[in-house]
Amino acid sequence: MGNMFSLQGKNAVIVGGAGGLGQAIAQGIAESGAKVAIASRSEVSLQRAVQEIKAACGIEVKYYIVDASVESSVEALVIDSVRDFGRVDILVNAQGFNKKFKAEEFPMDIFEQMFDVNVVGVMMCCKHFGKHMIKNGYGKIVNLSSVRGKIATRGAGNAGYCGTKGALDMVTRQLASEFGQYNITVNAIGPTVTETPMMTDILNSRGPNARKDMAENLPMKRMALPSDCVGPAVFLCSDASGFVTGNIIYPDGGLTAIG
Ligand SMILES: NC(=O)c1ccc[n+]([C@@H]2O[C@H](COP(=O)([O-])OP(=O)(O)OC[C@H]3O[C@@H](n4cnc5c(N)ncnc54)[C@H](OP(=O)(O)O)[C@@H]3O)[C@@H](O)[C@H]2O)c1
Repeated sequence: MGNMFSLQGKNAVIVGGAGGLGQAIAQGIAESGAKVAIASRSEVSLQRAVQEIKAACGIEVKYYIVDASVESSVEALVIDSVRDFGRVDILVNAQGFNKKFKAEEFPMDIFEQMFDVNVVGVMMCCKHFGKHMIKNGYGKIVNLSSVRGKIATRGAGNAGYCGTKGALDMVTRQLASEFGQYNITVNAIGPTVTETPMMTDILNSRGPNARKDMAENLPMKRMALPSDCVGPAVFLCSDASGFVTGNIIYPDGGLTAIG
């Protein structure tokens, strides 16, 4: 049967691949045998991530600059990556951002920007890479959602973020429905709070015990690590998940089990 988790011979693009979760996933996919490119807006961050991945596992990954909230920029990413790789088999959408305000004070421009990046931008990537994958009759798409697509928080602040992730979950399911006939699977990963650049300021603002309290509230009694998303991502990008589509895997230490 061979190694059904191997990604040998596959080409992958990880949007948001210089971020905390995206970089860990990009490295995991590269270590599983695929050729990998990472893409986001900041060239400095992309170059740092390329160097760190090389230092960690000796594998060279490509990078592309993209603003995934601008459709023409996403189209250029598809053209460039298909030109360089020949074809793209795997798309991971690990871009996103998170700003918290009480609902009664939420600046609507920030609410809308969050939807632009976390939902509209992911849809744009799925649309344009999806069109390419349909021609190939093969594709694996993995979207980074969150436990916040499924359960709200007790405190204030999450109307925007929860809204985007709930919407992304349904976009993921609908794309699975439409792309299934072309041998393209579309799934999501729903992590809980993980120490990455997106979360550091938010965690620091919650006081010195924030991390300890958060760990204590999870059945597995520790904070999530970026590496906790890697196994689910490799599974969802590999032939091991050949008949899995429209699903959301929660590497959340049991939070959604008790949520
Ligand atoms: N960390 C957590 O606790 C957690 C929990 C659940 C779900 N998630 C989700 O996991 C994903 C990754 O989060 P993370 O924690 O790794 O965040 P992160 O470290 O802040 O990384 C986010 C990445 O997205 C990129 N990005 C943002 N806007 C973009 C745009 N318009 N076009 C292209 N790239 C863009 C950023 O790069 P540039 O700014 O250079 O473009 C950055 O590389 C997000 O969808 C997040 O919602 C995170």
